[in-house]
Amino acid sequence: MSEATSMPPPLDPRVFDSEEFQKDPFPIYKQLRNHHPIYHDRFHNRWIISRYWDVDGAFQDNDSFDRAMYKPDGPYDFGSRHVFGPNILEYGNSDEHRRLRNIVAGQFVGQKLQDFIPMIHQISEEVIDRFIDNGEVEIVSEFASQVPIRVISNMMALPREDEDTFVEWYQLLIAGLGFGGEHLMRGLQARNDMWDYIDPLIKERSKNPGEDLLSRICVAEIEGSRMTIEEVKGFISLLLAAGGDTTEKAIANMWYHLLYTQPDQLQDVIDNPELWENVFTEMMRYDPVVHAQFRYTTREIELHNDVIPERAGVILYLGAGNRDERAFKDPDTFNIHRDDLHMGRENRSGRYKDGKNGHLGFGIGQHFCMGYAMARQESAIACSKLAERIKNPKPKIADHPGISSPNIDSGGFRSPQELRMTFES
Ligand code: HEM
Repeated sequence: MSEATSMPPPLDPRVFDSEEFQKDPFPIYKQLRNHHPIYHDRFHNRWIISRYWDVDGAFQDNDSFDRAMYKPDGPYDFGSRHVFGPNILEYGNSDEHRRLRNIVAGQFVGQKLQDFIPMIHQISEEVIDRFIDNGEVEIVSEFASQVPIRVISNMMALPREDEDTFVEWYQLLIAGLGFGGEHLMRGLQARNDMWDYIDPLIKERSKNPGEDLLSRICVAEIEGSRMTIEEVKGFISLLLAAGGDTTEKAIANMWYHLLYTQPDQLQDVIDNPELWENVFTEMMRYDPVVHAQFRYTTREIELHNDVIPERAGVILYLGAGNRDERAFKDPDTFNIHRDDLHMGRENRSGRYKDGKNGHLGFGIGQHFCMGYAMARQESAIACSKLAERIKNPKPKIADHPGISSPNIDSGGFRSPQELRMTFES
């Protein structure tokens, strides 16, 4: 039986566009979970799912919840809606999605990932060298946003002298994702410039592959099928957002909580660096970078005495599911020592041998994040390197506006805009 009361307190859907929601969506999430487990948002023409097990269930049920952005009965020009160009995100639950995923997924796990670990250490050190003598750092711009994109550039073995240009294209492309208008135009231009730049590299490495990520992606095959040049380009630009922007924001969120909300836990991590992985996991539950994923129903769905019609747009609020008291004790506390969260590496089934629930921050099922292992290792390495090289880290400014999002409602990523820290070296 549904736990919702027969007369739930009303929820005005305009709240999803408010500044209040962008700053702190958690009270609204609670209202959704407790009173509107299935919420029909008529204002935005969509349905919202917010409880942990309902979000988990929808992620697992690909037959009923498709990610494709097109309608099967209408024409759709792949890549037309994205700064990325044609890419895996747009192929929904189709065989084409499976083909593309199988070609590339293996590059980001296991030995292939391990091959890049020494380089992640080196890039982290180089980025820290730039500010270590200053006694202070603005973590977002000088550290978090520098490491992942430089790691991706080096994984692809782009010439090091072009690294700063690559970082610039990345920043323009990411701004084009979130803000539209002029930003979108500049993002598309940066993407085209980057594509022109990698085009000859793709052709060369397809013929004479090395051990770098770009070569591996160019020549990876499933049953004799490789990615086309256009698909490689689309995948590389997706990688910048899916792998660069998310990981940089994860690093910033981790430091925000240790500096501002749980300084005692910062000391625990400094004393026990292996706890950085717990910081990563608890951040992915408590204040994850990605809060929402979108799906379209392929059939009528009955849930909590409600019916979501076929071909309806649905938001899966994983940020709300992660704070569900039905899944986690004391869910509104950030605690890297919690004993009811699976703290180790995630998997796409979302089921773990320790019997604990996992966070929902990488999704689950067919579209489970391909970079889950890379994001975890890269965040832990970068953060532990920084902590190792500084003493007495403190927030520079006592009052911080907190983690927020300029555009959470469109699936925007949540992170602090700025994070100043002082330290001794
Ligand atoms: C902390 C960092 C990261 C977060 C929070 C994150 C989050 C997510 C989420 C929530 C999804 C599921 C999308 C869905 O269900 O529709 C996803 C998918 C994906 N992620 Fe990540 N991600 C991160 C890092 C990375 C990295 C490092 C890579 C680079 C390899 C990556 C590549 C992808 C790709 C390609 C997909 C699409 C998978 C598919 O549709 O099969 N992500 N990510």
